[in-house]
This record gives sequence, structure tokens and C-alpha cells, in this order.
Amino acid sequence: MNRKILISGGAGFIGSHVVRLFVNKYPNYQIHNLDKLTYAGNLKNITDIEKAPNYHFHKIDLVDAAAVNQLFTAHQFDAVIHLAAESHVDRSISNPLEFVMTNVVGTVNLLNAAKDCWKGNMEGKRFYHVSTDEVYGSLHDGGFFYEDTPYDPQSPYSASKASSDHFVRAYHNTYKIPVVISNCSNNYGPNQFPEKLIPLFINNIRNNKPLPVYGKGENVRDWLYVVDHARAIDDVFHKGKNGETYNIGGFNEWTNIDLIKVICKTADRLLGRAEGESEKLITYVTDRAGHDLRYAIDANKIMKELGWEPSLQFEEGIEKTINWYIENQLWMDEVTSGDYAKYYDTMYAER
Ligand code: NAD
Ligand code: DAU
Repeated sequence: MNRKILISGGAGFIGSHVVRLFVNKYPNYQIHNLDKLTYAGNLKNITDIEKAPNYHFHKIDLVDAAAVNQLFTAHQFDAVIHLAAESHVDRSISNPLEFVMTNVVGTVNLLNAAKDCWKGNMEGKRFYHVSTDEVYGSLHDGGFFYEDTPYDPQSPYSASKASSDHFVRAYHNTYKIPVVISNCSNNYGPNQFPEKLIPLFINNIRNNKPLPVYGKGENVRDWLYVVDHARAIDDVFHKGKNGETYNIGGFNEWTNIDLIKVICKTADRLLGRAEGESEKLITYVTDRAGHDLRYAIDANKIMKELGWEPSLQFEEGIEKTINWYIENQLWMDEVTSGDYAKYYDTMYAER
């Protein structure tokens, strides 16, 4: 089947892996990547597919409703896979309004454009909203997040993502837009901006800089290799039922401090350093405000109903990831030039 798909945020971390998968796997689909190219958007993430005949790029800010409508009208997309967002919790604590604008207003702009374009003919259309497990809040007494776990967002970032999820469901209920939503756990892998734990720590290890562990390092996250998330998005997009939600996760929980020790040990080996050298860089710093204690996804629904499962064991994934950052020092140098030093100083100087 020929399809014209709009993927938002395709120059970002997860979006770039999704765009690559769709462009390569579905040559009969036209893939249109809409991205504002914020600090987190980087066209160098997708140079391998930029010349593919079924790939198109549009530099657009989702907050600009007129530009979004114009693009939709010009191309009459059959489907949307919406990943564009402000995605870093610490930045949402410093600047919540930016998150409201992109994550809430931007999502509503995209929904409105789809609604107007698809009015009277929703057949075969799909609006796929990519969301996060953080909308469910923080687990304190064991258990997992299920698809019907009540929303309880705790940070400005997760509140903005929860709000966007609610708008997507409201448009399904009110305007009958065919929607599907997935909520995924923490991703790791190549091309992640070094504001997030894993690439930031790999970069600091490389540069013999302190590794800033928030609080006591006891918070728990459930890590999934980014390509496995992209594969899950492919499955949800093609096989997910309209109006449904799918939780995506790796059943792979780590306390931050245990994860950091694995990263240090693996990096020492790959960099030819003496074992224990990188661990000496661990520095406990002031905790993140309102820091969620634990996230853990029950991914049984997508596994049973859509046949998805993670392809990589964590040990293999983390080694691949550290190797990628070591081999792609130029990528890291480029993304840490410019405003990065200013960001780092502001975010970490007072901790
Ligand atoms: P990212 O920050 O790496 O990339 C976001 C992309 O969106 C960038 O390319 C950026 O330029 C673009 N963007 C930002 N504001 C925009 C705007 N106003 N208009 C158009 N484009 C804009 O994010 P990511 O980590 O790849 O996350 C992608 C999506 O997946 C987000 O919706 C996020 O909430 C969700 N998610 C992320 C994770 C994770 O661990 N990273 C886990 C679950 C869900
Ligand atoms: O759960 C999915 C979410 O995972 C996504 O929706 C978000 O977009 C993504 O950023 C991620 O959120 P986290 O806050 O969990 O990721 P982050 O990499 O920022 O932090 C992971 C853990 O490490 C968290 O407990 C905070 C801690 N941390 C983070 C940084 C950046 C530190 O201890 N030190 C640090 O310097």
C-alpha cells in the first residue's frame, strides 16, 4: 500500500531511528519529517537516508498553527506519527512554559490539522501519538504501570505529556479521529542528546569529568534500546487497534547507581582503562526537584497482542551504545559545541 506519513520530531533521538526504519523498510511509503530543529534536533542523525527518494524534510515549528495547516493541506497525509516534544525533565523544571507550548499546543495544532484534512473521510487514517511512562507518576510500593493505571504526572514535562495524551483521546472521542497511543519507558542508544543520563555520563567519562548522580542514586528506571522502541512503534502503527493504548518497556529495571557502575566498568574496558578508574568520577549531587522514584512498565499487552518483544539484552545494548559514542566522537563534539557548555554550567553548577 502507498501511504504518505508525517513523522514529527524525526531529527531527534527516537524520531531519527523511527524515520530510518520507515524509510528503509517501506520504500512505497512517502515519509515526511517535520522538525523545528531545536537544540535536540540534528539532521546529522539521519544523513544515511536524507537522499532516499521516499524521504522529505520540513523545518517547521509545531506551535505555528498556520505552517502546520499549510503543510497538511499541501500533502494530504494519510497518517501521523507524532514524536516531536520537549523531552528533558530538568529543562521542564527550569522552563515549564516551553513544554506547554510544544507538547500541548503543538500537539493540538497537529490534531486540528489532521481533523480538518480528514473531515468526512477518516477511512484508513491514523494519528499515532508517542508518549511516555512518566504520565503514570512514580511507583513507591512495587508493581507496574499498566495501560489503565490512572494518570498522576509529577513533573512539568510529564504533566505536559499527560495533557497531550488527554487531547489525543478527546479528539478520538469527539471528532472520531482514529488514534493510537503508546507509552514507553526510558530509551538509550546512539544519537541521544547528552543531557540525558547515559550519553552525558559516557561523555563525562571520556573527558574525565565528574559523574553527577542525583540524590543517592536509588531511583529506578526501566531501560529499552531505542531501535527496539522504533520496532514497537512500527508494530503499533501497523497492527494497533484504533483508540487503544500500548505500554512499551524492556522489563529491565536498574537503580541509577547500579546502571552507572555498569557503564563505568564497560567504558573502562572499551577505553583500555584500569578497572575502577571511571567509578572514581562518581559524585553525589543535589537531587532533582520532585524526582520520581521508580518507573516500571508492564509490556505484556504489546507482547501478547502485537507479537513485539525486545531484540537486545541490556548488556549487549549498553556495550553497543558506549561503543557508538566512542566511535562517533565527532557527533558528540558537534552537539556539545555552542550552547551546551552554558546549559551544563547552569544545570550543574549549583548542585
Ligand atoms: P528529543 O528531545 O531527542 O527530540 C525531540 C525532537 O522534537 C527534536 O528533533 C526537536 O527538534 C523536535 N521538536 C521540539 N520542539 C518542536 C516543535 N515545537 N516543533 C517541531 N519539532 C520540535 O526527544 P526523544 O527523546 O527522541 O523523544 C521523542 C518522543 O518520545 C517525545 O515525545 C518523548 O516524550 C517520547 N519518549 C521519549 C523517551 C526517552 O527515553 N527519550 C521515552 C518515552 C517516550
Ligand atoms: O521514562 C521515560 C522518560 O525517560 C522520557 O519520557 C523522557 O523524555 C526521558 O528524558 C527520560 O526521563 P528521565 O528523567 O528518567 O531520564 P534522564 O536521563 O534525565 O534521567 C534518568 C535518571 O538519572 C533519573 O532518575 C535522573 C538521573 N540523573 C539524570 C541526569 C541527567 C542523574 O542522576 N544525573 C544526571 O545528570
